[in-house]
Amino acid sequence: MEIDVFTLFPEAFAWFSAQRHVSNALAGGHELGLVNYRDHTPLSGRQVDDTPFGGGAGMVLRVDVVEAALRARYAVDPVQLAERRRVIALDPGGRLLDDALVDALAAEPSLTILCGRYEGFDERVVEHFASDRVSIGRYVLAGGELAAMVLCDAVLRKLPGSLGHAASAMEESFSAALEGGPEYPHYTRPAEWRGWRVPEILLSGHHERIARWRLEQSRARTAGGLANREHRPGDGPLP
Ligand code: ADE
Repeated sequence: MEIDVFTLFPEAFAWFSAQRHVSNALAGGHELGLVNYRDHTPLSGRQVDDTPFGGGAGMVLRVDVVEAALRARYAVDPVQLAERRRVIALDPGGRLLDDALVDALAAEPSLTILCGRYEGFDERVVEHFASDRVSIGRYVLAGGELAAMVLCDAVLRKLPGSLGHAASAMEESFSAALEGGPEYPHYTRPAEWRGWRVPEILLSGHHERIARWRLEQSRARTAGGLANREHRPGDGPLP
């Protein structure tokens, strides 16, 4: 897969690119390109944003700047680009990223991810250049960089070879293998700590029974609404 991230802060991705599953994916032939809008701006003084028409706080990333960066990278009209590859505008009000969307994106040969800054993009960027508007949650970040890393992290770890153990990507929270439910609990050594024993079944060596127990645990967590439960101080341990 070839992923291009358009950003004002390419250096913010240095830590991310060095993470094991990301570097594994890159070593395996996948690509993560970083394009700085500022390097392609047609405006003087490396300007990329402007004040919003109609007034209001913050700055808006300009449509001409985004177009110039996309043209520089792909040498086509960005309006046509969105017909050829997924162009994702990161936006707190977009479609919420979930496991189904991550699966769909991981199946694409290429992705373009547009990070906004300050007050986001001029709306014409999203309307005319993007195929998707994606949010990582209903809260506003100062820019799209963290959201891009979340998206890339979730997509790259789905690609064959990026995780050491392929099964760990298949049987995890919200996957089809767990009927879309949350993952079962994990335990490791010591088998007992302060009197808290690991469930005996996990020590039994019965792989089929363990698999059944894990699915039951996942189903119980779904039924218990664990994923939506708010934990408050004084609630005690989670069920
Ligand atoms: N940019 C700023 N906040 C964001 C969010 N929650 N999701 C995606 N992009 C964003």
